[in-house]
Amino acid sequence: MDKIVIRGGTRLRGRVDVEGSKNAALPILLASLLSAEECIFRNVPNVVDVRTTLRLLEGLGAEVERLGDSAVRIRAERLARLEAQYELVKTMRASFLVLGPLLARHGHARVSTPGGCAIGGRPINLHLEGLERMGARVELVEGYAQAEAEELHGARIYLDFPSVGATEHLMMVATLAKGQTTIEHAAREPEIVDLAGALISMGAQIRGAGEDVITIDGVERLHGTDYTVIPDRIEAGTFLVAAAITGGDIDVVGAIPTHLDPVILKLREMGVDVREHDHGVRVIGNGRLHAVDIKTMPYPGFPTDLQAQMMAALCTADGQSVISETIFENRFMHVYELNRMGADIKVEGNRAFVSGVAQLGGAPVMATDLRASVSLILAGLAAPGTTEVSRVYHLDRGYVRIEEKLSALGADIARVRE
Ligand code: UD1
Repeated sequence: MDKIVIRGGTRLRGRVDVEGSKNAALPILLASLLSAEECIFRNVPNVVDVRTTLRLLEGLGAEVERLGDSAVRIRAERLARLEAQYELVKTMRASFLVLGPLLARHGHARVSTPGGCAIGGRPINLHLEGLERMGARVELVEGYAQAEAEELHGARIYLDFPSVGATEHLMMVATLAKGQTTIEHAAREPEIVDLAGALISMGAQIRGAGEDVITIDGVERLHGTDYTVIPDRIEAGTFLVAAAITGGDIDVVGAIPTHLDPVILKLREMGVDVREHDHGVRVIGNGRLHAVDIKTMPYPGFPTDLQAQMMAALCTADGQSVISETIFENRFMHVYELNRMGADIKVEGNRAFVSGVAQLGGAPVMATDLRASVSLILAGLAAPGTTEVSRVYHLDRGYVRIEEKLSALGADIARVRE
């Protein structure tokens, strides 16, 4: 298994390009199942989760062809299987989103339920209740969700929580349901808007994506498309924090400032110089960071996927920061690893109290999930001494060649094969 070895203490400088958004790309790739025609998607990041999704599509019988490093052609004309198995869904929860598209195209499907993961329970009740409101019969049998419907119809659906996955799942299905669907209290993340953009380019009729209520008028069929995925706001945000934590100067090219509003505002509160420009965002760190409080919230609130990275930065800030995690119940696994590097963090329920220390020190640490693993890398970049981050397969699920990108910015970082 690979590990990442970092000798920290260098200020990072230079420019870095942002990849396409992993979280936008995954549902967009799956949307190809809704059409019998050829779909081309561009700016798709070459990360493990994308490769897993392409294997899933192939397993279902779709023709998949990679066009270079970041584009892919998919044709799901005839499907061979209407099933996704536990072995796959357990490694990547987003694959549960195949249930609805398979059901909408073929009237029945069987997909393993995801179960829990390192950051919490990850229930699917909102997905299933929404499908039922559109006329599906759903049964949970031996760990699988089995759904069938002669015809799906439009419905008024209210989500108790603005779940990203449930909004995406139900929006996809509604494009082919008969009549009008409204999703109320919908998630408003940029990835929702991007999926809607992809579906609209395939002929779907969707209004209100990015707002509280999304209205979808079902159509007979969707056609093919050629669609480009948005830049990854979480990868971009990770580089913004990398500049802040190392007191460096990084121009993050391709970052969309409006997607990063709360992150930019918090960085400024921390005393960092953040400059938005036409092609991205440049961050210039200067001196010790100030402590700030952070509360993760659905978009446009502070993203939970940048909570761990921000915590790493606040470990050496001047004063105490309180970080409240309101989206996932157990997303503080990185705390204990950061403490091994000399941080002073106490957890009470869903709040972490971070008392800034003068400096972190290098240490061997272990990644527990995707964003936790990158927070340990950020901490290692700031800590004099050697940090070894093991279990980096989590990292590869969502970041493209991050060690190469950081190295190009001047970091002393390498991947070591064990
Ligand atoms: C997506 C992102 C993930 C991000 C998260 C929140 C992808 C592939 N993943 O995950 O990176 O951290 O959004 O921004 O895009 N919930 C229910 N019932 C449900 C569904 C969700 O109670 O049926 C709860 C979850 O337990 C969680 C909260 O809603 O507490 C948020 O989950 P959700 O927005 O669905 O996250 P994902 O779509 O899984």
